[in-house]
Amino acid sequence: MHNLLCVVLLAAGTSGHSDSWLSDDNELQFIEHLSSFNTRRSQLNFDQTYFSSLDNYQVEAVPATEAQYPWIARVVHSRTLDIPHMCTAACIEERIFITAARCIYSLKVHYTTLIYQHTRLPVRAFVLPSKGTKQAFDDIGFIVVEDVPHGHWATVKLYDETNRTDDGFNWFADRFGSAQSESHKVVGYATKGKQSIQAPDRLFELTEIPVVVHMDLCTILFTFDLMKGFHVPCYHSCTLEQFKTNSDDPDCKKYHGVEGGAVLNTKTNKLLGLATWGPYFPKLYLPVGFAVPNSANFFNDYVCARRIRDDDGEPGMSYQRLCVDDLT
Ligand SMILES: *[C@@H]1O[C@H](CO)[C@@H](O)[C@H](O)[C@H]1NC(C)=O
Repeated sequence: MHNLLCVVLLAAGTSGHSDSWLSDDNELQFIEHLSSFNTRRSQLNFDQTYFSSLDNYQVEAVPATEAQYPWIARVVHSRTLDIPHMCTAACIEERIFITAARCIYSLKVHYTTLIYQHTRLPVRAFVLPSKGTKQAFDDIGFIVVEDVPHGHWATVKLYDETNRTDDGFNWFADRFGSAQSESHKVVGYATKGKQSIQAPDRLFELTEIPVVVHMDLCTILFTFDLMKGFHVPCYHSCTLEQFKTNSDDPDCKKYHGVEGGAVLNTKTNKLLGLATWGPYFPKLYLPVGFAVPNSANFFNDYVCARRIRDDDGEPGMSYQRLCVDDLT
């Protein structure tokens, strides 16, 4: 039995410029959290945060099928092969998919295809947020695919309860800041365990785990030494309470962290968010951060994605003019 409230990861000598922010030589310390934690912030402070990429792996997740999630898709950086696998995406409307923006920043449109309902879909365009967030931790990217013959476009409905009312995630703290009876799960394409060799032919399988969505998860668990900026939406395989009372709880030893992983409300089957970031530390199962598709930025980009889809002109070239600021 441990009494842990606060994981302090001492990122000695790192300044957050690279993915090695949480490399193995950093020291890890657990300390008890001493005072009550105020999870509300009048202002976000990301001066000392680093939102590292997810490594697309799972621990103790259960297999899922495309029949259960017919709107799910795999993003691959090839026109003909199923590798290299890049991330998970979700179809939200005919020919429009969303994923973590950071997944597609480095891809070339013409090499990228989506594998959706066993069909390969060529990509017409990416829409990336014009006003990006730090390391794209809160950025959702759109993938508009070409109009290829396709049957039914299975889509997932978006979380539409609240739009953002502030820039500091207080709307999220208000909605997901107390104990909840509702449940969530995350689903996406993952390898089993973290692969130390990033071979392109790693096997990615559709898997899911139940998760807890709460404002305090990253706010409290990622209180790094001098780094207190993780007041952002996160999920984890167990509650803070379980973690505090018994960190050996099997629920706390599951993990699912894939770029674009779909966070679903199991009651409504609506998409609450897309997994975007999370630190890795050996033998620790840490929360994963996600982006909620309810920002003005998101809706603006959505309008843009629809215009690109509906455009009949020559492909390429003209798309920028379809997307100017404040389309909504
Ligand atoms: C959120 O904003 C979008 C776009 O402006 C709008 O269509 C939608 O109805 C809003 N939802 C809520 C719950 O206010």
